[in-house]
Amino acid sequence: MSTTVHIHVFTTEAELAQAAAKRIVDRVRADASAVVGLATGSSPVAVYAEWGRQARELGLDQSGVRGFALDEYLGLDPSDPRSYHAVIRRDAVAGAGLNAELVRIPDGSGRPDAAEEYERTIMEAGGVDVQVLGLGRNGHLGFNEPGSSATSRTRVVSLAETTISDNARFFERQEDVPTAAITQGLGTIFEARELLVIAVGPAKAAAVQAAIEGEVTEALPASLLQTHQNVHWFLDEAAAAGLAAVG
Ligand code: GLP
Repeated sequence: MSTTVHIHVFTTEAELAQAAAKRIVDRVRADASAVVGLATGSSPVAVYAEWGRQARELGLDQSGVRGFALDEYLGLDPSDPRSYHAVIRRDAVAGAGLNAELVRIPDGSGRPDAAEEYERTIMEAGGVDVQVLGLGRNGHLGFNEPGSSATSRTRVVSLAETTISDNARFFERQEDVPTAAITQGLGTIFEARELLVIAVGPAKAAAVQAAIEGEVTEALPASLLQTHQNVHWFLDEAAAAGLAAVG
C-alpha cells in the first residue's frame, strides 16, 4: 500500500485555516451528506470558523453534513461547558454551521455499551470521509495516549499526566480535570479516507517532527499517521520548525 503525506506550511493561522477549510468545503460541495470527523482543542477552532465562512459565502447547504467527534471526557455532563459535547457544539457545530442533529459525540457517562455503539454508528454512516485532527504535545490523537495500539477501537482510556496538565487550562484546578475519557481508537481514526492534521505553535514542533520524520511507534501515536494513505498536515512555521524536509 503506498502512502502519501502532504505537508502544508503557512505563515499565518488565517492562511492555514483557509486552506484546511477549503479541503472540507470542497468535499461537502461534492457530497452534501459527507461525513466529517471533528476534533476538539484550540488548533481546529479557526478552521471550523473559516469552514462556516466559506460555506456561507458559497451558499452551501450543509443541512445533510454528518459529523463524528473523536472523544469525550468521562463523567462530565453534556451540559457542562467543559465537556466536549459543549466544545463541539460551540466550536464545530456553530463555527462551521452544521446541523447539530447529525453530529454525534461519544457518550462519556460510562455506559458499558457506549463505545461499541459509537463504532457501529460510524460504520452505519459509511465511515468518515475527512477527519480533522489535532495533536497532543506527547503525540496523542484524540485521547489515544502513548502506548495505544495502532488497531485500537473506541474505548475508555486513562489520560496521561501531560494531557491532564495541558488541559487544566480549561478547568479551575488541575484536580478538576477528568482522568479518563472515551475516545475513538487509532484503528477507528485511521479508517477515515482523508486525515487533516492541524498543529500550530512552538509547543507542537517536537511532536510534529517526530510524527513525520521519526520512527513509526505506538510510543508516539501520531507517528502511526505515516502508515495512512492520505494525510495532510496543516502547520504554521513554528510547528514546522523542526522538520528537515521543510526547513
Ligand atoms: C485534547 C484533545 C485532542 C487534541 C488535543 C490538542 O487533548 N483530546 O484531540 O488534539 O487536546 O489540543 P490543542 O489543539 O488545544 O493543542
